[in-house]
Amino acid sequence: MKPFGVNSMPDKRILITGGAGFIGSHLAEDLVKTGYSVKIVDDFSTGNVNNILELFNYKNFKMLREALLTKNFWLKPPPTLT
Ligand SMILES: NC(=O)c1ccc[n+]([C@@H]2O[C@H](COP(=O)([O-])OP(=O)(O)OC[C@H]3O[C@@H](n4cnc5c(N)ncnc54)[C@H](O)[C@@H]3O)[C@@H](O)[C@H]2O)c1
Repeated sequence: MKPFGVNSMPDKRILITGGAGFIGSHLAEDLVKTGYSVKIVDDFSTGNVNNILELFNYKNFKMLREALLTKNFWLKPPPTLT
């Protein structure tokens, strides 16, 4: 998969919201396996850790368990992508 249809730049860092859900986990899987550094943010309200279990084997994958819409989330520094 070549994301965004242009020259792939695997050194890019990507943040996926809802990354433990159906769409997000598939997107994360493709991007991780392409070589991008991927971090997902998910509160697991409907997502499932089983969707992303395999990705924990990749060092270019990180997960942050957090709800995006809480005031607390936005008051904190943005999640680092490294
Ligand atoms: N096998 C299949 O074909 C299949 C399976 C599941 C779903 N679907 C379809 O996929 C679509 C849904 O997929 P989706 O990925 O949009 O939904 P989803 O619920 O799977 O993913 C949304 C993710 O966002 C997270 N989330 C929600 N609010 C959040 C917040 N405030 N902060 C942080 N995280 C938050 C949830 O925990 C979840 O992981 C539907 O159309 C459904 O019918 C298909």
